[in-house]
Amino acid sequence: MMLITNQDKKIDIKYLENFSLTNDEGADVIQGLISIPKSLPSKYFYDRLGSELFEKICDLPEYYPTRTETSILTTASKEIADITGICELVELGSGSSTKTRLLLSAYDSLGKPWQYVPIDVSSEILKNTALQLHEEYDNLSILGLVGTYEQALLQLPSSSLSQRMIIFLGSTLGNFTHQQSDLLFNEVRDILTVGDYFLLGIDLQKPVDILENAYNDSQGITAAFNLNMLCHINRCFDGNFDINLFKHQAIYNQEKQQIEMYLYAQKYHKVRLDKLDLNINFKENEPVLTEISRKFNLNQMQEFLANHQLKTIKYWTDENKYFGLILTQLCQ
Ligand code: SAH
Ligand code: AVI
Repeated sequence: MMLITNQDKKIDIKYLENFSLTNDEGADVIQGLISIPKSLPSKYFYDRLGSELFEKICDLPEYYPTRTETSILTTASKEIADITGICELVELGSGSSTKTRLLLSAYDSLGKPWQYVPIDVSSEILKNTALQLHEEYDNLSILGLVGTYEQALLQLPSSSLSQRMIIFLGSTLGNFTHQQSDLLFNEVRDILTVGDYFLLGIDLQKPVDILENAYNDSQGITAAFNLNMLCHINRCFDGNFDINLFKHQAIYNQEKQQIEMYLYAQKYHKVRLDKLDLNINFKENEPVLTEISRKFNLNQMQEFLANHQLKTIKYWTDENKYFGLILTQLCQ
């Protein structure tokens, strides 16, 4: 835990109770690797290097979501702050909070003390970002929470301000299945009070070539990001994955309207994860699913939100309709 106090502003970083990426003793890793087709949990992308690689992905020419959402936030942030007024901002999967700064600036210029609660499993990027933000904003107190979304929503301390807005940007919701999204929205609804807000950024359906290029970039950064998950898993579980024996590929599944990111074994071989006492055989060309990234429809998402008592107040999109930002409010 870390606490720095500076006049009215504070910065506090907490590890959530029972936080460990490998909780359940790797049960989710074992389950994924003994399933057919094999899969691995996406949260293992984000060690220190994984978070750095994700930042590079955001700057890639093919990866349109970050710059498109940034352009929407550039237009919408002041309006959002004016609609909600001062409130506590709780961000799920905040990463480097780069785009969030547009919102933070809009709230900070309301000129009153307020609070930002970034939540992320990647502790280094969370801590470094919190320290920078503490320097940058005059009226802002920060409570950084290291842990998973689920843990954070269960353990969120009550807000010192009368209103709260949970924000979930970058279309990270796309990395959840429909069922997981339903659970997440139930959790969001349960910790908000009527009148509180939920701001959601979603990537929209678009031509396949644009989508597949965004996840198979020409510089190979997404491939490095995908392969790095195996290095992270090796460290967590004393494993011997050899990244040279796997190849990255992302495809768009039209039926499910989702990008699926795979690592393909290049030849028959065996891998051992000592800490899990697990031996796995890979066939030549066998895929391991490491991530889904669902692509949404703005109207359907508003309906889905409404089914969780989250009523759309306003939404924004870009001129190509590539990305959407929806501001909702918890209703009775
Ligand atoms: N919101 C930022 C970052 C998106 S990347 C943006 O829009 O650019 C997804 C972020 O979620 C990463 O910082 C990652 O570390 C974090 N993350 C991934 N799985 C998580 C989980 N299960 N719980 C909490 N954070 C998670
Ligand atoms: C974090 N998330 C929304 C990204 C996405 O686009 O699904 C992760 C990512 N995977 C590959 N490139 C980016």
